[in-house]
Amino acid sequence: MSWAVVPGADESAPNPGGAGPILDLADVRKVYATGAAQVEALRGVSLTVDPGEYVAVMGPSGSGKSTLMHILGCLDIPSEGSYRLAGEDVGAMTEAQLADVRNRRIGFVFQQFNLLPSLSAWRNVELPLCYAGVPRQERRARAIQALERVGLADRVDHRPGELSGGQQQRVAVARALVTDPALLLADEPTGNLDSHSTADVLGLFAELHVQGRTIVLITHEHDVAARAGRVVHILDGQVAEDEPAAAVSR
Ligand SMILES: Nc1ncnc2c1ncn2[C@@H]1O[C@H](COP(=O)(O)OP(=O)(O)OP(=O)(O)O)[C@@H](O)[C@H]1O
Ligand SMILES: [Mg+2]
Repeated sequence: MSWAVVPGADESAPNPGGAGPILDLADVRKVYATGAAQVEALRGVSLTVDPGEYVAVMGPSGSGKSTLMHILGCLDIPSEGSYRLAGEDVGAMTEAQLADVRNRRIGFVFQQFNLLPSLSAWRNVELPLCYAGVPRQERRARAIQALERVGLADRVDHRPGELSGGQQQRVAVARALVTDPALLLADEPTGNLDSHSTADVLGLFAELHVQGRTIVLITHEHDVAARAGRVVHILDGQVAEDEPAAAVSR
């Protein structure tokens, strides 16, 4: 159940029918070694997130937020500690299993959009479906549907350089949605957007949350965090506070 947007809808998922958190970090540490220097980016983070939660992560620059998101998204692995995703021990997964989880179960949105500049909007959006082996016709149809959903039906053939920042971020959101992932991870998705585009993107996230998706969103902005149900504050690689969003928006 933990993976499914609709409970019980995906019996092929890890932990089908099982209850419990979708994300479960226990005493996670992450050390980066660059030359002789070592940076301890995460210093014992324990965190659980239940299916369907909308969690904002806040904290100063360099506190470890992106590192945390990379681990949550299986883009990187903890140096120590354990991470269970929908009940499965990520540390025990093979590379192929990890790639499958990233492609099919998780949607990523980054501050810098991370679009391929030479590809049109719909070609960018279809990429996760290519990796997932979806047939060509279906890929195009689903990519265009996802772009319609973010209000870009009239921009499907534009390349990123021919779109505004807000439109590029909406393409990135469409790309994150096209696989219909149960988990959406967003790192400063509104950091480069004006207030109008920010409202658009946050509106989309709110819709996805209502539909039952789990969302973890990193932000520096209090009014963005206030849209979530819960705010986790990271300080120096540790969870400093974990509170309902209402308590933050005072
Ligand atoms: N690939 C890396 N190699 C070495 N050190 C890194 C690497 N990535 C991050 N760090 C270091 O780990 C610490 C945490 O970085 P992280 O990117 O997680 O911070 P952040 O909270 O996302 O900051 P920001 O708000 O500026 O994006 C920082 O001190 C950073 O310099
Ligand atoms: Mg960051």
